[in-house]
Amino acid sequence: MGLQHDALIVGAGGAGLWAALELAKAGVDAAVMTKLYPTRSHTGAAQGGVCAALGNQEEDHWEWHMFDTIKGGDYLVDQDAAEILAREAIETVIELEHMGLPFNRTPDGRIDQRRFGGHTRNYGEGPVRRACYAADRTGHMILQTLYQQCIKAGVNFYDEYHVVDLLADGGALGSGGRAAGVIAYRISDGEIHTIRSKAVLLATGGFGRMFRITSNAWSLTGDGAALAYRHGIPLEDMEFYQFHPTGLYGLGILLSEAARGEGGILLNGLGERFMERYAPTLMDLAPRDIVSRSMYLEIRDGRGVDGKDYLYLDVRHLGRAVIEEKLPDITDFARVYLGVEPLTEPVPIQPTAHYAMGGIPTDNLTRVTRDAAGTAVPGLYAAGECACVSVHGANRLGTNSLVDLLVFGRRAGRQMAADIRGMTLADVPRDAADPVVGEIERIRSASTGEKASRLRAELADVMMDNVGVYRDAPLLAAAKAKVAELKGRYASVSVADKGRTYNTDLLEARELGYLLDCAETTVAAALNRTESRGAHAREDYPDRNDADWLTHSLATRTEAGPALTYRPVTITTFQPKPRTY
Ligand code: FUM
Repeated sequence: MGLQHDALIVGAGGAGLWAALELAKAGVDAAVMTKLYPTRSHTGAAQGGVCAALGNQEEDHWEWHMFDTIKGGDYLVDQDAAEILAREAIETVIELEHMGLPFNRTPDGRIDQRRFGGHTRNYGEGPVRRACYAADRTGHMILQTLYQQCIKAGVNFYDEYHVVDLLADGGALGSGGRAAGVIAYRISDGEIHTIRSKAVLLATGGFGRMFRITSNAWSLTGDGAALAYRHGIPLEDMEFYQFHPTGLYGLGILLSEAARGEGGILLNGLGERFMERYAPTLMDLAPRDIVSRSMYLEIRDGRGVDGKDYLYLDVRHLGRAVIEEKLPDITDFARVYLGVEPLTEPVPIQPTAHYAMGGIPTDNLTRVTRDAAGTAVPGLYAAGECACVSVHGANRLGTNSLVDLLVFGRRAGRQMAADIRGMTLADVPRDAADPVVGEIERIRSASTGEKASRLRAELADVMMDNVGVYRDAPLLAAAKAKVAELKGRYASVSVADKGRTYNTDLLEARELGYLLDCAETTVAAALNRTESRGAHAREDYPDRNDADWLTHSLATRTEAGPALTYRPVTITTFQPKPRTY
């Protein structure tokens, strides 16, 4: 009979765990599959906060949060989705508090809140305290809290199972078939398992590892997005990839925006607070796309530190108490990795690839959609960073990632529980796993060929150098050719480890295939979009062009490479305006 569950979730970050919890509460037999251990999921790396307009310290409203999200996303946000995000942020954060999450507290015992980039009072007047936080380890606390709740609720876990394919019934997922489960590779012994399910949630996170300097863990390789793409589902808005301004120099490790929320400032090599020139109202707390571009321009104009390609984050003036109570982890990162003491020295930083605004298209109920008309793929759902609902548009605001995965993870669980009532498991052919087993065995047994690590490094270099904070047509065209070349060479990838026990060499070769798919769609969509919007900054098309480009891209796989189509942005409340801070 093989393994089977009513609902299967791939990925054990915040979105996956909250979905599992909802399913378990509804009495559904739910399982979570992860290539890691659940508490090592990348949600645990989110630092500074999760925003909700609680108004615990100053007046705030969900409508202000909705507006900031839309403006922050350079008006590419679907506004009905942003309304859901901003409204449901409040109840999900309070629900987390009731689950026991140890938030920092105000003196009178309420959840403490701090400032974050692009979050404002009264539609842009100045910064507002909206980020609820647990020191600078908010994501870690969310992950631990949700995992404990899942264990209590009896959720099943498949730890260290790597998803290698999706199962479809009645045709391809991109053309009418329904999701029927997944094929998984058990990392401990190399066994392949077919797990049938009535509903599958993809919650596999992002794909920042396609860049050289990134805040993303090694495991962030776009597994779910690439598998959806291979099954004929288009990927949405892939050209919008966020660079977080404050990555630790040379390493990309995240130093939370909370440092600036608490009053830290950015300095160039001349000691100037350069953000005054680029965003006179919000300055260091402008949205990330604007800050990262400003940093890039400072460095290009020779105002990096010692003329080099880095700048400073300065928190010295915050004092020991604030640093130790509110920013303990990131200041330790500076000490441990760079040998810099943030109490007395400014910290070298550079923009770091951080977050994918695009991904697997879904409707507001988290159902994966397969075309511009929004046709849902039966039984297939996506939530969290791998999904594009789209609440982040062209540029996500800090702290909206954690809200996204709470709000839409919860929605996914509820929707799946409702949809699977009365459904039966699909029959899956006995040989369903044969193609992927053949592919894996080919990589394992190849005696000569390209090393995955080499291809991965070349991919990371070209994406960083040509598809980074600024792009233009020649850079993107060169990236397109390079990614195509790498895809060609990937066909003969081989591994040194021929074994079956914890063969990470083999896993990384598989992950490289996923990264190449994500890179291919990112480059194609970026080359086609001849405007600048949010995180997509074209030096050859420096202006936003609403007349032609107020539209979401959809990249569909074809033999000749990604084919691009477009779908309209949903605008309910806020008409696009010039975006100044
Ligand atoms: O800066 C940060 O703490 C990151 C938060 C986020 O990406 O939302």
